[in-house]
Amino acid sequence: MSNSPTCDTIFDAEHWGAHGAPHEAMTMIRNESPVLWYEHDEFDPVWLVTKHKDVEYVGKNTKVFLSSPRTVIHNPKGFVSPLIGLPQLDAPDHSYQRKAIQGWFTPKAIGKLEARINEIAAELIEKMAAKNECEFCNEVSAQLPLKMICELLGIPEEQEATVLQLTRDIFAAADPSLSTTTDSKAGVENAMRFCATLGSLRQQHITDDLASTIANAEVNGAPMTIQQIASHLLIMISAGHDTTASAISGGMLALINNPDQLDTLQQNPDLMEKAINEMLRYVTPTTSFVRTASEDTEIGSAKITKGDDVCIHFSAANRDEDVFEDPQKFLVDRHPNKHLVFGKGPHVCIGLLLAKIEMRALYSQLIPKLKRIELSGEPEYIRSFWVTGLKSLPLLYEFL
Ligand code: HEM
Repeated sequence: MSNSPTCDTIFDAEHWGAHGAPHEAMTMIRNESPVLWYEHDEFDPVWLVTKHKDVEYVGKNTKVFLSSPRTVIHNPKGFVSPLIGLPQLDAPDHSYQRKAIQGWFTPKAIGKLEARINEIAAELIEKMAAKNECEFCNEVSAQLPLKMICELLGIPEEQEATVLQLTRDIFAAADPSLSTTTDSKAGVENAMRFCATLGSLRQQHITDDLASTIANAEVNGAPMTIQQIASHLLIMISAGHDTTASAISGGMLALINNPDQLDTLQQNPDLMEKAINEMLRYVTPTTSFVRTASEDTEIGSAKITKGDDVCIHFSAANRDEDVFEDPQKFLVDRHPNKHLVFGKGPHVCIGLLLAKIEMRALYSQLIPKLKRIELSGEPEYIRSFWVTGLKSLPLLYEFL
């Protein structure tokens, strides 16, 4: 099935932009060729891994499946990324540098942010309540995670729009309605410049924020280089909000398309935790990451050669029938829900708790207030097959 039109849709930004995630294609590939050698005109070939057990196995087995030199699927052939942040690092450097940052993401540290997160969510809902229609993606979903990551990094409010644009230029480079450049390389370089300036400023003047911790961290007794600092800051200013925003918008669309589930959640607020996990599984904003085999090995019955790249596809794995009953259904009380939205193993998302708390803050305040909610126009998807989601969700609603 290699290079079949079915497989091409999984890596076709146009298709994602027009229809959202191609779940039929992913199901077909997962069932017929769960570890598939895939060649594309624009980027280097990969083994496409779509079964839950295989994605989990590769994610956990960081000795054999390295994060360097390639972390993402879509970079053009020959592209050498300037990024050397956590996603790109392998042991032992990965754990040293992750330790230098993770103090900001422990349950205790995130717990301290909860009151502020609830406050921002309440303000956004108040703005929604002042009228009866909105464009949910830009007016609500994007706002909470963007404001929160900027506050965490000590980035002033006036620069929030810049942070949003820099992120879109990286994640939505293939979507001219969102990006100012079609060249994702230029997007990364631009954001690196912004992050290097931020890092230098925090080295000159230390403040009590995540950017200062990153800029002044010592790893094995030595300061990090400005390229390392900028790389760490870049993933924070991009992955630190856009993914959560997509999970919030996609979760809202899932509730509207499944009114029985919205009703169940309204009648049973205790289901909120499970509902958030189900929104995350159902949406899976970050579809994949890439690893490189450090030795000849096997995944299932596929023989992998040293140096081969392996794409672990979280979106496909999160609809695996062997793990999830009725995987295509959105069920707010789904249990168990062993989704791989945040990856698995040493590279598991550092910000997962922050993302979940932001979603909970918004939904636990919004859901009880809703009397009626419906679409007031067609939802529109971002033209992207890597970090994906809605770009427009026009809503009409009435509050109780
Ligand atoms: C719904 C929201 C989010 C989703 C879906 C998501 C998804 C992911 C995924 C799939 C990975 C890679 C795991 C792997 O390679 O095995 C990852 C890594 C990462 N994420 Fe997130 N993420 C989200 C929110 C956040 C937030 C809020 C932050 C920061 C504030 C963040 C920062 C990071 C970082 C730094 C890494 C690299 C970790 C490492 O390689 O050690 N993410 N995320």
